[in-house]
Amino acid sequence: MANGKVDALLGIVFGDEGKGKVVDFFTPRYDIVARFAGGPNAGHTIIFNGKKFVLRSIPSGIFDEGKLNIIGNGCVVAPDLFMLEAQELEQAGYDLKNRLHISNRAHLILPTHRVLDRALEASKGKNKVGTTGKGIGPTYSEKAARTGLRVGDIAGSFQEKYEALKQNHLRQIANLGYTDFDITEEEQTWLRGVEYMRGFVLTDTETALNEALAQGKRILAEGAQGTLLDIDHGTYPFVSSSSTTCGGVCTGLGVPPRAIGEVFGIFKAYSTRVGAGPFPVELFDETGDRIRDIGREYGAVTGRNRRCGWLDLVALRHTIVINGVTQLIMMKSDVLDSFPVIKACVAYEKDGVRTQTMPYDTEGWQAVYEELPGWQADLTQCKTEEELPQKFKDYVAYIERQVGCPITILSVGPDREQTIVRSL
Ligand code: GDP
Ligand code: IMO
Ligand code: MG
Repeated sequence: MANGKVDALLGIVFGDEGKGKVVDFFTPRYDIVARFAGGPNAGHTIIFNGKKFVLRSIPSGIFDEGKLNIIGNGCVVAPDLFMLEAQELEQAGYDLKNRLHISNRAHLILPTHRVLDRALEASKGKNKVGTTGKGIGPTYSEKAARTGLRVGDIAGSFQEKYEALKQNHLRQIANLGYTDFDITEEEQTWLRGVEYMRGFVLTDTETALNEALAQGKRILAEGAQGTLLDIDHGTYPFVSSSSTTCGGVCTGLGVPPRAIGEVFGIFKAYSTRVGAGPFPVELFDETGDRIRDIGREYGAVTGRNRRCGWLDLVALRHTIVINGVTQLIMMKSDVLDSFPVIKACVAYEKDGVRTQTMPYDTEGWQAVYEELPGWQADLTQCKTEEELPQKFKDYVAYIERQVGCPITILSVGPDREQTIVRSL
């Protein structure tokens, strides 16, 4: 990390890699932490001193009282969910008002966006994406269609604009034949959320960020979702609707490419995916169930079962290149502690064709695995690299060789303290 730079911490698989934990761990090294994409579809878990928080829209740097946190222009914000999330932190004793700034260019998620999300999913039948139902797709669609409402709109004659957009949404929902909703109560909370948001600094965050860079400050951009859920580079159409990759840091915060410093790519020692879409390494057997049980792989936002499988090196090689990852961070290594054999996917195969690079359409490909011996030891108590079992170090070295990028941080448990920084 260097002065006057933006380092990016990006999920490089299907999300839920452990971004929240590492951003919180990294925050003491930075002046500002900024979210650049996504909204309350994210669920970032942070555990310290026996306390657990799950953040959705608020950056994970918020627990370090001296630091500025920013919700950037590339994000989408639901005022009601934002209010509930912020109030929970305030009740836990964190003062947010002066150190959480929100971009006036971030788009607003309306209650009717969430209904539209559900209505569109219902209309897709068995092709549904399995969204989080937070209105993400409809809000970003409207941003691209140039009809959305932004945070900056809540100043001035907001009510009229809101009503007009809501009526437009209600017509779309009716056209879809969707009737299973009642937003009366939700709308009241949402409008209270708008009032509540007015108490925050709603500003041109991109100006503040560029001024901070000119002063030599250090910024950490906190990714949401993961590269394989990116609107351009993910497994389209089974993706989210934002730019989750390194390019999204520049557009989602308004910082220039030359300001980007380190790019941390974060992944788990195995694979998971929530929602529908191709997933060549998915395990449908006891091993998959065991990974899910030990790793507690249930969604932080929706509580859904996460689909589980072995590590996918084909996907990692691809997403490392797309993002220009300079350092890797491997999470949840401890989840594999008890497995006698560990597998890693080195290629995909379909109809006799084998590929080591990411195909256009990952549907229908079978994973080709290599096997490694498990370490069968408890990693959760390890505090330094020296204490790690040799077979685990061999697994780490194997991944580094396969993907051509160093792994500089190893996470061996959910707590902030269970993090090993390697000396390379
Ligand atoms: P994010 O969305 O990328 O921030 O990740 P999530 O919070 O959705 O999911 C990561 C889950 O793994 C959370 O429940 C974390 O508490 C947990 N976790 C993070 N790192 C580790 C680790 O090294 N070991 C174990 N066992 N759990 C971890
Ligand atoms: P974090 O930041 C995992 C998935 C959903 C669905 C698809 C589209 O916690 O890693 P959306 O509601 O965005 O339209 O859903 O993307 N998805 C995530 N999966 N982690 C996330 O965020 C996700 N955010 C969205 O499950 O398949
Ligand atoms: Mg998550």
